[in-house]
Amino acid sequence: MTQTIHDLQTPALLVDVARFEHNLAAMAAVLPGRRLRPHVKATKSTALARRQAELGHVAFTCATLAEIEGMASAGLGEDLLLANEVLDASRLGRVDARVTVAVDSEETIAAAARGGVAEVLIDVNVGLPRCGCAPEAAGALADRARRAGLEVRGVMGYEGHVMPMQDRGERREATRSSMEKLLAAHERVGGEVVSAGGTGTFDLNTWASEIQAGSYCLLDREYAKLGLPFQEALTVLATVISVSPGWSVADAGLKALAMDHGNPSIDGATVWFCSDEHVTFAAQSRPRVGDRVRVRPAHVDPTVARHGALHLVEGERVVDVWPVDLRGW
Ligand SMILES: Cc1ncc(COP(=O)(O)O)c(C=O)c1O
Repeated sequence: MTQTIHDLQTPALLVDVARFEHNLAAMAAVLPGRRLRPHVKATKSTALARRQAELGHVAFTCATLAEIEGMASAGLGEDLLLANEVLDASRLGRVDARVTVAVDSEETIAAAARGGVAEVLIDVNVGLPRCGCAPEAAGALADRARRAGLEVRGVMGYEGHVMPMQDRGERREATRSSMEKLLAAHERVGGEVVSAGGTGTFDLNTWASEIQAGSYCLLDREYAKLGLPFQEALTVLATVISVSPGWSVADAGLKALAMDHGNPSIDGATVWFCSDEHVTFAAQSRPRVGDRVRVRPAHVDPTVARHGALHLVEGERVVDVWPVDLRGW
């Protein structure tokens, strides 16, 4: 029997297949093959990553050791980048895959060498106060890594502070200024790779050799505000469990939705607030208990990480189920 969304226990993640495929095609048209190194942190699914690989994006970006291990065991380990610093790289050394790790200090270089990782990128701070060395320090760190026996493939520098800028011109200029820093570091470091970028700068960052976008496949409400050629493909399916005069309550709350970018949205309704297991909203037309509503998350990455499966849907028909198998650390 065909499964529909009415058969699903809620809350459940839904992926609209047509929108998802549109997003993949729109990205591949601009960044074909290895010009895109999809970040798996937003989607956390090897089945979804396999679809990206089928389109030619065979090198991936990861944020956690578990993502690297999961991608390698799924046979997607042709070229994995851990775009994050680790002080114990021994799990990376044991993985049967090509693994490159970001380093930004003597300690992380020593950890990579000790852990048996062969290749590194020097991670450069291009304006986001997070990881990354100062551009001027990149050359000395590359020398140190080479002395430790590591292959230095190049540099990475994530311009994450640029992504939320609403104005495209402002985003372009901020990307340019970030990439000036990264290219200055690259001159000191050498190597073939200049890895940077994300969904908000995928077509503006013309300086990097590869772009690390991940959210573009499913998108979210915050990114949808930027007018990018991608569509919101992810919703959280919820069931209306209580209706009062003036408001209704559905069963997807803080434990099913990430709230760091604000309240989720429901079409035709105003979301009042979320509590642990509930979203309280006022709808234009009064729902009935048992109705299903699709809740649009404000931030896709941490929403996906709260769930065990992605249900691929065409309209109300569930056509496939992909495990969210890259969770944990
Ligand atoms: C290192 C790194 N690269 C790239 C990205 C881009 O991701 P997105 O597609 O969400 O913009 C992120 C997101 O946080 C990141 O941390």
